[in-house]
Amino acid sequence: MNVWDPSPDRAAAAIVGDALRAVGYTTEAIEELLGDDGPSADLAESVVLERRLPRSAIATTIRLLLLQRPVTTIDAAAALGHDGVDALLGIGLVTADGERLVPRARLVPAEGIYLAFDGFSRGQDDPPGWVSSFTPTAYWLASLTPRRRVERALDIGTGNGAHALLAAAHANHVIATDVNPRALAFTQISAGLNGIENVETRLGSLFEPVAGETFDLITCNAPYVISPERRWQYRDGGLPGDQLSERVVREAALHLADGGHASVLVSWLAESEDDPDERIHEWLEGNGCDAWVLGLSGADPLDHAAGWNEHFTGDPDTMGAALDEWAEYFAALAAGWITEGAVLLRKRDGDHHVVRADPVDEEELEFASDQIERVFAALALVAEEGASAVTEARLMLTDEVRFEQELDRHGEVQETRIVLDEGTCFDFELESETAELLITLDGHTTFDEAVERTARRLELGKREAAELRHDALRVVRELFEQGFFELVRVHA
Ligand SMILES: C[S@@+](CC[C@H](N)C(=O)[O-])C[C@H]1O[C@@H](n2cnc3c(N)ncnc32)[C@H](O)[C@@H]1O
Repeated sequence: MNVWDPSPDRAAAAIVGDALRAVGYTTEAIEELLGDDGPSADLAESVVLERRLPRSAIATTIRLLLLQRPVTTIDAAAALGHDGVDALLGIGLVTADGERLVPRARLVPAEGIYLAFDGFSRGQDDPPGWVSSFTPTAYWLASLTPRRRVERALDIGTGNGAHALLAAAHANHVIATDVNPRALAFTQISAGLNGIENVETRLGSLFEPVAGETFDLITCNAPYVISPERRWQYRDGGLPGDQLSERVVREAALHLADGGHASVLVSWLAESEDDPDERIHEWLEGNGCDAWVLGLSGADPLDHAAGWNEHFTGDPDTMGAALDEWAEYFAALAAGWITEGAVLLRKRDGDHHVVRADPVDEEELEFASDQIERVFAALALVAEEGASAVTEARLMLTDEVRFEQELDRHGEVQETRIVLDEGTCFDFELESETAELLITLDGHTTFDEAVERTARRLELGKREAAELRHDALRVVRELFEQGFFELVRVHA
């Protein structure tokens, strides 16, 4: 595939953005015409989906910019206006071929903004500086970023600029960095498409372009994949083992202002699945932050290598050679387990800090901003006052919590679960007495008052009440640190 350089012309991008809004190019419009999977269609699906489109202005737009199929210049002008077409040509997102416009890049709505990036991946043929789409890992990071209002935000390894542009809605100023000039050009184009003016781009590796600066929010989805390869800037970080991830975690903490948050996607190695997080704990030690480590996927070297070499699936010999090369690489690192996940940090002036680690089901992950705020409020309290602080505090279940009960055929309760309907969507099995107690925690009641009231209501004897207290204390501590509770007041 030929490399071409998109022109970072924000003014032209703004014209395209206006044309796209006027034609109604939204995720909903795509889903209406192509179904729920339309927005994430891949190259093979695009050829099929193209044939499902009617003839209309929005269909032309989807055909050209989402499915990356040529359209006639007349149809494009009818959909986006002559100015829109000229702007697309000027930036280089499309080229003219006789009567047709041929797309060179893709431009899609994602998370409420427009993003421009390179066309569909062609696997092996993608050039080293290829800029990827809004990928599933980008979705993880967007979900795991706290969205409080901040002064200064930083996005490292910005790619198409997604996280910088999402941060621009709640930060006064955003700096987006990348080693790939094409990525920064796409970021500027994406900023122009959305009329965003508070994003500055800087070329350079990791934190080098922001030496000595601090931020209230840091996001990073840099190439954390551990591999022996150096092929693509978007995937291969170029440092051995998990060293790129280690640098991201250590340096993010150094660049946080007091009270600042960082959300970074990283991977880390372990000798075996039995103790997968030892290294991440080392990286976090003494960094002045509370940390929440979310393991999103774990694999042994073979599964890890197979997952990242899927593009060879149709070629068993090449795939086999790649798997052998990767296996040798991990053997030399004495690594038997690779975890990919997110590290969330909150810098806090205090004497004690805590690290909490939880596995997360990537399929369940949703927007987690409010949950993250609650988790860090809980971690700060526990760090400074010890786990017993929960008995002193006034807690209340958040609105996003619900209880689920499974009944047997006689209508007897078999199982009670508490479910968080946001963020990590954790759920937790409970004794029914403990569930009763959790409801009693209303933000005015202390833990021990709740035990007393619940015991009275359920007519429990002294020993049963003590058992309830013991079980519920363990559960409340756990749920508190996982963001099921609002911390209404720190002390009784
Ligand atoms: C997996 S892509 C993710 C892009 C974007 N953050 C997202 O979530 O969609 C990784 C990005 O990191 C950039 N990158 C690679 N090595 C880097 C480094 N040492 N410093 C900064 N950026 C880097 C790549 O060029 C690429 O744009």
